[in-house]
Parts: sequence; C-alpha cells; structure tokens
Amino acid sequence: MKTIGILGASGSIGSSALDVLASHPDKFSLSFISVHSNLEALEAILSTHAVKHVVVTQEKAYKQAKKRFPTIHVYHEEEMNDFLLAHPVDTVLNALVGTAGLLPSMTLSQAGRNIALANKESLVCAGELMMNAIKKSGAKLYPVDSEHSAIWQCLEASPTEKPEKIYLTASGGAFRDMNREEIRSAKVDQALAHPNWSMGRKITIDSATLINKGLEVMEARWLFDVEPEQIEVLVHRQSIIHSMVQFSDGSIIAQLGTPDMRLPISYALSYPRRLPNDWPRVDLFSIASLDFSPVDPERFPGLDLCVEALKEGGDRPMVLNVANEIMVQKYLDGEASFYDITDWIARALSDIEKIHHPSLQQLLERKEVVRDYLEEHFA
Ligand SMILES: NC(=O)c1ccc[n+]([C@@H]2O[C@H](COP(=O)([O-])OP(=O)(O)OC[C@H]3O[C@@H](n4cnc5c(N)ncnc54)[C@H](OP(=O)(O)O)[C@@H]3O)[C@@H](O)[C@H]2O)c1
Repeated sequence: MKTIGILGASGSIGSSALDVLASHPDKFSLSFISVHSNLEALEAILSTHAVKHVVVTQEKAYKQAKKRFPTIHVYHEEEMNDFLLAHPVDTVLNALVGTAGLLPSMTLSQAGRNIALANKESLVCAGELMMNAIKKSGAKLYPVDSEHSAIWQCLEASPTEKPEKIYLTASGGAFRDMNREEIRSAKVDQALAHPNWSMGRKITIDSATLINKGLEVMEARWLFDVEPEQIEVLVHRQSIIHSMVQFSDGSIIAQLGTPDMRLPISYALSYPRRLPNDWPRVDLFSIASLDFSPVDPERFPGLDLCVEALKEGGDRPMVLNVANEIMVQKYLDGEASFYDITDWIARALSDIEKIHHPSLQQLLERKEVVRDYLEEHFA
C-alpha cells in the first residue's frame, strides 16, 4: 500500500488522480490533500476518501473550512512547507497550477521526497535549482505531464543511452485551424474548447497560445538533461502519440495512448509497476492517419518566446511564466486580447532587467516585479 498526498486535489489533475486512487483502493491510501478555494470539491472528496489532513491555501476558504469541517485537521497556506516536512508519504502529487507549485516542489526536492510532478511551472521557473536540490537529496521526480511521461517511458527502452533527440508532440490547441485574423477575433469560450483534452482553464489557454508547449520544452530540458536544440515540437492533431525519443542509431521509440491524464498519473504513482484498468483503449483501426506538422510561429509566437527564454536562462523563464499567468488571467477576465498575452510577455522580457544567477528568493520576488510592471504599463 502506497501512501499518497495530493496538492491541488480540487483541480483537473487532482480529480483524475483521485479517480486513479479510487480504482485501486488496495494499492493506495490518501494521506493528505490541498485545495485553494473550492470547498464544494473538498466536501465531495471528504465524503468519498478517508482523508484527515487538508491544507486550504486561500485565506477566506481556510477560515470557512475550519468551521465547516470540524473533524478534519485544516492547515493554512503558511503552514504548507512545515506540514509537508512533518507528514512524509510515499509520493506527493504536485497538481497545483502556476507558480503556486514552486515552493512545495522545492521543499519536497530538498527533503529527498518522491514527487509526481504535474506542476510543470516548478521546473520552468527554477529548473536548475530544483534539479540541483534533487541530486543532493536523492529525491525522485516522476513526470505526470503526458508528453514527459511518454519520454520517460521511451527512455526506459534503452536506460543507459542518452537521447539524441526528443520529439514533443502538440495537439495544436483550440485555434490550430484558424488564421491570425480568426484567432484575433475568437471568443474566450472558443479558446477554452480544446479539441482533444479536458483540462483546467489556465493550461487550456496555454495550449491555445502554444505557451504550454514552450513550458513543456523547458520542463523536458531539466527532466531529461537535454539541450533546447535537441527538442523538436511537432503538431500531432490526434494526440495519440504523446511524444517520441530518437536514439544515436536513428531508432525512434514512441509512446501511444488515449488522451486521458489518468494514464500518466497512474504510471507516476505506481512506478515501476503498471496498474491494470478498464479505461478505453486506443482503437488503431479507427485512426485513419497520424499527422505531423511544424508549429506556425506567425500564428503562435509563444513557443519561440519560451525557447528563447530557456536559452537565455537566469530569471527569464520565471519572468515569462509570471507574465503569462497574469496575462492569461486578464484574457479569461475579458481584460486582454489573445495576442496581448504573447505581446506583453515579450515586452516584460525586454523591459525587465535580467538577473543572471537568481537565488530562489530572487526568483520568488520576480512575481511582484512582473506584476508591478504589468500594472503600470498594460492599459
Ligand atoms: N489538466 C491537465 O490535463 C494537465 C495536463 C498536464 C499538466 N498539467 C499541469 O498540472 C497542473 C494543474 O493543472 P490543472 O489543469 O489540474 O489545473 P486546475 O484544474 O486549474 O487546478 C489547479 C489546482 O490548484 C489549486 N490552486 C489554484 N490557485 C492556487 C494557489 N494560488 N495556491 C494554491 N493552490 C492553487 C486549485 O484549487 P481550487 O480549485 O480549490 O481553487 C486546484 O486544486 C498545471 O501545472 C498544469 O500545467 C495539467
């Protein structure tokens, strides 16, 4: 029986993970969860899982949760780090969204814990610091992002070999078949209608801008210790091949599966075993073809912005990530247009002075710097 903690249990990945746990009650026991604001989701989780420890990170929701769930131990956001250190489990799934996931990831990495990582932003923002902490502490990092899970599984085919190249597949997002003018005038609801995956709102918009793929390039760089030039992004409309690895002899190994996040979550939590399930299988006969095409940088400038930020290093990925988070929220709130997202990331990157070798504290402080910059300049 493996003990599991889930950070971000009320989200899309969190609920898929709870589904995985519910399918294998003999294999997993849920020790703790975190939610931010969604107390209805928390109530539903408490009614189906015997979990006694909950971190509620939003102040207002924390106060309400203390009153509403008197038999549960409820912890405040500021207690998160101490809580994680005091409650070791076999694996913590970090399914928080955005930079909120960074500190818990660093805490777990420094403490030598096993982390199933969905929160790609941790590695995007502090990849070097986090991987150094992991090397020092002996922590284990199990990728949850479907593409990175695929790469991990492909690498297991030749565990002693370094990859020559990684092919990172992208669905192309909601706007893949629109021209720039159509994208410019599309509604937020259209951006949220992902053709293949059902996900949280932020990552769905990140998929439409292809920033998500750029963040994944950064994530892959750190997870698999490859150079940005070794990673090629392919638009693959069917989302059946989740990514591929090319080895030095030219062989390419691919991982295929249905677009269902329960699969990579299940693998990350049960590794090195595979758990049987009765979820839908890929029907290869019903897939007429598997298509691949390059990303169009004119319609989707977000990918190049990410790759450039990765190559520049220092605080650039953090600045990009924070600017993206803020602009995506403005877009969802109807305060920014679709192309404002990438335009204002580019402006923030060019106007905010670079820190070449930031500490964790300096990276965290960049949040305020970028927020202030956009408050002052974005009209
Ligand atoms: N969804 C997918 O299929 C998918 C696939 C691959 C990778 N990922 C990655 O997985 C992560 C989670 O994505 P998601 O789609 O599951 O997001 P989501 O549905 O928006 O869920 C986010 C979770 O984080 C919590 N949260 C929000 N703001 C927070 C804050 N300021 N502090 C602490 N917790 C906060 C939310 O709590 P409340 O709901 O209670 O407010 C919720 O539990 C992201 O990094 C994403 O890139 C997701």
